[in-house]
Amino acid sequence: MKKIIPIIAFVFLFTQCKIKTIENVENNKLTGFIADSAMVVSAREEASKIGVAIMQKGGNAFDAMIATELSLAVAYPFAGNIGGGGFMVYRTHEGKTGALDYREKAPQAASKNMYLDENGDIIQGKSTLGAMAVGVPGTVDGLFKVHQKFGSLPFSELIQPSIDLANKGVVVTKKQAERIAKQRHFFSEVNGTKIILDNDWKEGDTIKYVMLAKTLERIRDLGRDGFYKGETADMLVNCVQKLGGIITKADLENYEATWRTPIAFNYKDLKIISMSPPSSGGICNAQIFKAIEPFDIASYGHNSLKSIQLLTEAERRAYADRSYYLGDPDFVKIPIDTLISSKYVQKRMASFSWDKATPSSTLQHGKITGYESDETTHYSIVDKYGNSISATTTLNGAYGSKVFVSEGGFFLNNEMDDFSSKPGTPNMFGLIGAEANAIAPGKRMLSSMTPTIVEKNNRFYMSVGSPGGSTIITSVLQTILNVYEFKMGMQDAVNAPRFHHQWLPDVVTFEPNGFDGLLLNQLQEKGYQIKQENSVILGKVDAILRLPNGKLEGGADYRGDDKAVGF
Ligand code: GLY
Repeated sequence: MKKIIPIIAFVFLFTQCKIKTIENVENNKLTGFIADSAMVVSAREEASKIGVAIMQKGGNAFDAMIATELSLAVAYPFAGNIGGGGFMVYRTHEGKTGALDYREKAPQAASKNMYLDENGDIIQGKSTLGAMAVGVPGTVDGLFKVHQKFGSLPFSELIQPSIDLANKGVVVTKKQAERIAKQRHFFSEVNGTKIILDNDWKEGDTIKYVMLAKTLERIRDLGRDGFYKGETADMLVNCVQKLGGIITKADLENYEATWRTPIAFNYKDLKIISMSPPSSGGICNAQIFKAIEPFDIASYGHNSLKSIQLLTEAERRAYADRSYYLGDPDFVKIPIDTLISSKYVQKRMASFSWDKATPSSTLQHGKITGYESDETTHYSIVDKYGNSISATTTLNGAYGSKVFVSEGGFFLNNEMDDFSSKPGTPNMFGLIGAEANAIAPGKRMLSSMTPTIVEKNNRFYMSVGSPGGSTIITSVLQTILNVYEFKMGMQDAVNAPRFHHQWLPDVVTFEPNGFDGLLLNQLQEKGYQIKQENSVILGKVDAILRLPNGKLEGGADYRGDDKAVGF
């Protein structure tokens, strides 16, 4: 553990003092952006503005979702995409809830041991970098599914602002310039040619995405086929196959996003609606919330020794179950009802002790009988009609596989790494998987993306989600608890320092500023292994809270360039 210098303790105290409670809303002391009735919070101001402009034209939250997602593909190529996939959870103004799974799929030529060498060992980098890492993209089909079911404005009007943005160009932010500089060497290594981002881009420069604009025009003019068939499909397949990948035109043509029933559960007087498998987010968080429900966590205090212990132990047990039971529900049977039942979860918590950490090595998944980066981006939307959306979309790693379809102007994901390539061997997020998440043709890889909507008193209360691979689940969890249990406003809940545990590795990771040395020493004395690195960021939460006066407070994460916009 790094030595905790006094200044960090000061930062901690300062952050704690600054926290405003929702009771302060009438006094206008909340720190987040406040809007009367409609809001988008996303990773880039350009995307939030485009989503809001659609709602100002009379479009609903679903229209705004389509526009926001497409504009993130332009303004935030790090994770926004048309070459990746995602999940969306919604709640309509009538209180109906649902979820869309537009997660990538394994190509038909994929096979269980495709990332192993002749000795059965993982071939380093094969599932993360380059064309073999790419899953069949789902984003574009997902957006058309949303439009078919809920769209109120023509698709062409929803995509046009992104085409215009791509042609006009996007101004590089400081954080973006740093990200590009860090990833540049991969671009030439993977693609063998110079791609648009492989330049010495500086803060304030403008990047025009002309080839991407043309792809978006084909999607505008030809609909779904503008991506999954014809010219764009040819470009994508040629690029992938030239670089040694296995995606075919049939894989693209056959891709279908799927409507799913979200995971819904109660926590005290909240109803939490979150993503179902192939995401692990809803089930894991249901387990964690059920595990902590009998405890009066508010009385322990935010990020106190007891709160951290309780959450860590609940997380340890949930992530152990995740690794064993969860996978694509179209391929594996998951005992969802048991996993999220209070009875089962309480039984799992029976070994929890305030005196001593439970070593992960002594804890396996629970026994249920009779049953056979981390780079993602989240946005939350609420419209003036009362519809709400929580959507998380990803290329997986930073710029995905780094494979760039130059003619089409877009990156492709490396989502195949979210499968368990070899049972018991961790993926890029350190997550261990089992048979349930083994690779099979046409199967979706397990995800941690956790787009979530929370209801209180049968009304919309919060829309929340985050990027961050395996840390997504615990970032969403802590944000909800910060508001509900620790009485913070939305922005303060997002700002608050976070920690994370995922069973294996058996460490608890803390963001660098915000946890004092004394607290961390106390945890170590109880057997917790502490990890605190200088630049670690746990999640990048974008969220919207309905305030007691009916207005909306945005929580846009300062850890990125995120922005809340609304009216
Ligand atoms: N690619 C990150 C996730 O889906 O969890």
